[in-house]
Amino acid sequence: MRLKQISYQPIEWLGDRVRLLDQTRLPGEEVYLEIADYREMAVAIKELKVRGAPAIGVAGAYGMALGALAIKTGTIQEFRDRLQEVSRTLRSTRPTAKNLFIALDRMDAAAASGKDVTRTKAALIDEAISIHAGEAEATESLSRLGADLIESGFTILTHCNTGPLATTGYGTALGVILYAHEQGKKVRVLADETRPLLQGARLTCWELQKAGIPVTLITDSMAGHFLSKGSVDCVIVGADRIAANGDTANKIGTYTVAVLAKENGVPFYVAAPTTTIDVSLASGDEIPIEERSPDEVTGFHGVRTAPQDCQAANPAFDVTPHTYITAIITERGIIREPYQEGIGGVL
Ligand code: MRU
Repeated sequence: MRLKQISYQPIEWLGDRVRLLDQTRLPGEEVYLEIADYREMAVAIKELKVRGAPAIGVAGAYGMALGALAIKTGTIQEFRDRLQEVSRTLRSTRPTAKNLFIALDRMDAAAASGKDVTRTKAALIDEAISIHAGEAEATESLSRLGADLIESGFTILTHCNTGPLATTGYGTALGVILYAHEQGKKVRVLADETRPLLQGARLTCWELQKAGIPVTLITDSMAGHFLSKGSVDCVIVGADRIAANGDTANKIGTYTVAVLAKENGVPFYVAAPTTTIDVSLASGDEIPIEERSPDEVTGFHGVRTAPQDCQAANPAFDVTPHTYITAIITERGIIREPYQEGIGGVL
């Protein structure tokens, strides 16, 4: 089954450049950027023009392909040496989403095994296209599996944005919701606005409206109210990195929702492709958490909302301990406690 209503493409490879839908301009304007330089791609990732764990991985892979195309040398060793700088630059953009590092590891491996410059450039482009296709397919499969957890009539609470925009495919948490809707189930969504950058308000509501799924926007601080009133049948969120024990890093505010869900007896599901899992980390304590500029908290879109010189903290993600997670939905199966074993079984 294919999603009928996706009329937008967040990332497209155009042969020698990449077309990106600028997510910072949504929902006001649908503006596409053409990026031909890997440094521009690095800036686009840092500035969240492209965002969401799987989409960041895909953008990073295409960034490597762009960097490779721009290297003018016939010597394979020099080519590889110069490509390392491209990889380093892209790796330094956003630290939390595992997908970026898995994609760049694959690109580095493709560069290392190339025999000559021309063939290696072609192999790097093929590898980036294959990473893109893989992420898109994985989100479709996990969405199909996850849709089994959704019953007609459900109201689902979600946090941040996890749809086609964030994944270049079906979506993770939002993919499950879109799939259930495609199956004819009547679902309705409560979307957290997701402070400070409003991915929920700007992007999730935009994607759900386009899909024709009823959505009610709430501020992050309203989640407890609706969970305690019995208005929510389940919570589904995405993930940026999942440790070996199931602890999950996702957009800041996710942990709060997980605790509130458990307190109110509401299932809390995490949906993510296996490229988000990092078994090299024993627990969530080891997940690197991105710190972003305090300016994102003291104002929005150039309008200052806090007094001048007010200090602000801005961790972009938090970690939900696995004990709060009812199940993790991946493209290779739905995992429940004990997570360590379940995760081992899908990798
Ligand atoms: O800072 P963002 O907008 O990249 O954060 C995105 C999220 O936290 C998503 O929930 C996550 O990447 C998982 S789903 C694609």
